Amino acid sequence: MFRSGKPLCTTLSRRFGAVDGVAVANKHKICTQETTVNDKFKFPARLGTGEKSVWVEYIQLVADTKPAVNLGQGYPDFHAPEHIRKALSKIAISENPLTHQYTRGFGHPKLVQNLSKLYSPLVCRNINPLNEILVTVGGYEAIYCAILGHVEAGDEVIVIEPFFDCYEFMIRSAGGVPRFIPLKLKKTCGTVTSADWILDEKELASMFNCRTKIIIVNNPHNPTGKVFTCKELMFIANLCEKHNVLCLADEVYEWVVYPPNEHIRMATLPDMWERTITVGSAGKTFSVTGWKIGWAYGNSKIMRHLQIIHQNCVYTCCTPIQEAIAQALDIELAQRTTPKFYMEALAKELKPKRDFMVKTLTEVGFYPTIADAGYFIIADWRNLARRIDLSTEKDKYKDYRFTKKFSKECGVMTIPPSAFYSPQHKHLGENFARFCFIKKDDRLSLAAKLMKEWSVKRK
Ligand SMILES: Cc1ncc(COP(=O)(O)O)c(C=O)c1O
Repeated sequence: MFRSGKPLCTTLSRRFGAVDGVAVANKHKICTQETTVNDKFKFPARLGTGEKSVWVEYIQLVADTKPAVNLGQGYPDFHAPEHIRKALSKIAISENPLTHQYTRGFGHPKLVQNLSKLYSPLVCRNINPLNEILVTVGGYEAIYCAILGHVEAGDEVIVIEPFFDCYEFMIRSAGGVPRFIPLKLKKTCGTVTSADWILDEKELASMFNCRTKIIIVNNPHNPTGKVFTCKELMFIANLCEKHNVLCLADEVYEWVVYPPNEHIRMATLPDMWERTITVGSAGKTFSVTGWKIGWAYGNSKIMRHLQIIHQNCVYTCCTPIQEAIAQALDIELAQRTTPKFYMEALAKELKPKRDFMVKTLTEVGFYPTIADAGYFIIADWRNLARRIDLSTEKDKYKDYRFTKKFSKECGVMTIPPSAFYSPQHKHLGENFARFCFIKKDDRLSLAAKLMKEWSVKRK
């Protein structure tokens, strides 16, 4: 560890074979002063200041404070389908040693074949499994490869707020400039649904210019649950065409859509295949977020750029997990038109959970947005403000103070949505808390009981 000058010198003197650490330091112009070492090894300025991550902070908070129910991070607390877990366990003890060795860098052959079979009919074209699909470490790495593979210094990337927080870092690390546009909640009374979060068309059009390289469209949207309509997508697509811009379609929640809403893939709109990179996630699709396998698909010329980034920073993803997902897809493709098809069954399973949470939150005094998709509800907590003393919490943003105090008082942890806004728009997220409802019924019932008890006590 190079925490002070002395160990640094000692280490270097050993390395360079000198007896006297100071002599070595002088010879190699290495300063032994702690400040200089710190300056030299500081975080690269082009990557920003190393902002705190809401995930790191809140996962630690959960570990430290052990709330009774954690509705913060977005993962299921119930099992994935049995067939996918069994596939992995069989692969783990398989007689074939190669299932434990490196596989094809751009995606395990059986997995890319099956992804092609899954998506080709959905995008109305034959997707070439070898050059139009890239398997990545979660949807996360697919987004990274898409951004790093296209953004030049000074290029602008349009980001719709609230946004998955890593987008900003990835854009800046590529030398790009994020341009933020917030969805605006147009309704302030009555029932609010995800569709009430509106993208201002005029404002969006005004952001496109000759420096715009990419627009990121997270659809269905986390955390509002918005499912972009055909009209909204067409508007974005037309701007992309007019200004020759790529669309990075983050569609990791593609299967979790509540009827009558329907997910429309950006890549299927006229002329958009040529300029759309679509991101998917096995973690979200099969309720195995810890497996961290995702993918991107799109036109081969564009996908080549993602492949180059991937081959130089990850090279190849975990073979047994790719094989297990491929085998799970064999089963899902065979039962695609039956009620067993997991991707559709999951949304059916989640809808009563969503309804339960909306009802509970309303009864407690929150003002929730009914999610049209995904497994999050953002709920306005302003009605509860007079019942909770936030002055004991020191965070800058109100939603951080609210979520922390609420968790301490009632034992239910949530996530502060201002984390998903740029500094200039954080105020737009401050009145909300994000609740994840992809949890077992007994967990949701416990959360409801605790929140109702809290509400009665704080009347
Ligand atoms: C909007 C969005 N995009 C991408 C991801 C990353 O997906 P994965 O877990 O497959 O990396 C997430 C995960 O929460 C997400 O919410």
